[in-house]
Amino acid sequence: MNKRVFSGVRPTGRLHIGNYLGAGKNYVAMQNEYDCVYCIVDLHALTTLEDTGKLQNNIYEALLDLLAAGLDPQKSVIFVQSHVPEINELFALLSMVTPLSWLLRVPTFKEKVRLHPQNVNYGLVGYPVLMTSDILLYKADVVPVGEDQLPHLELAREIVRRFNEHFGETFPEPQAKLTNFPLVVGLDGKDKMSKSLGNHIELAATAEETTKKVMSAVTDPARKLRSDPGHPEVCNVFKLRKHFEPELITQLEADCREAKIGCVDCKRALADSINRDLAALRARRVELAAKPEYVHQVMVDGAKRAQIIARQTLDEVKSKMGLI
Ligand code: TRP
Repeated sequence: MNKRVFSGVRPTGRLHIGNYLGAGKNYVAMQNEYDCVYCIVDLHALTTLEDTGKLQNNIYEALLDLLAAGLDPQKSVIFVQSHVPEINELFALLSMVTPLSWLLRVPTFKEKVRLHPQNVNYGLVGYPVLMTSDILLYKADVVPVGEDQLPHLELAREIVRRFNEHFGETFPEPQAKLTNFPLVVGLDGKDKMSKSLGNHIELAATAEETTKKVMSAVTDPARKLRSDPGHPEVCNVFKLRKHFEPELITQLEADCREAKIGCVDCKRALADSINRDLAALRARRVELAAKPEYVHQVMVDGAKRAQIIARQTLDEVKSKMGLI
């Protein structure tokens, strides 16, 4: 039997190139080698989403992006987290074997408490247990994620070890799988690319929107004049160009250091290469958006297939924990 892959995408709306380069590309690549389960994690979104009126549309937009990027419902199970309610039961059961102290020291939790001290709900503390429940419900071996998720996966492994020790060997210890670009910095050159910071480029953006955003990107701050030598090692535009145009990069690095190329030209070239790279994905997205019934059916079928696996795992867990 093939190894099982599981990953979750938060439905924050349209996906951006940070989501894609940081994890999504691996989703597509892994479909041929693994038994893949991909989930749009709407319950996770509730831990921080203020405007739940947008959630249904956000789920739909994220699904369109994933399908356009090449997720194939013939190969992978693609579904929405809350459509398989067994997740809630496993979440409750795993919360009984997870020490609170483990959750309070998770860096993403500490960061959220620091940024939004007035919005620390019980669900937010349990976020990594819910994520672990996703992974374990499908007994995944491999979890493609971005670098920021590594502490959550470490915790998932700790929960697995604890569960297996108490109740007998049940779950494999899930391993993270990073892309070759596991942390994509936003166009501001400071923080991780994220929709909430507005420093992102949507996969579905038009070529014009992409160019406009890229032209606003921050480059090497020390380079004030066109004639100043550049420092590609601190420049996020350089990093992105390295990803999109690896064959040009040695020359570009030299040209930047010797001020033979200016930041404006460099950004224009980056915008062109992103637009070239995403052209096929964007065309597929337009086609899919014209078939909403099909997209909806993918969700319905995915949930049915996911639920078969989920029920089996849950029965086993309940029996091991003495509930049946
Ligand atoms: N926490 C992940 C993120 O913010 C999303 C997620 C939820 C996930 N459940 C998961 C990722 C299970 C991998 C596996 O990106």
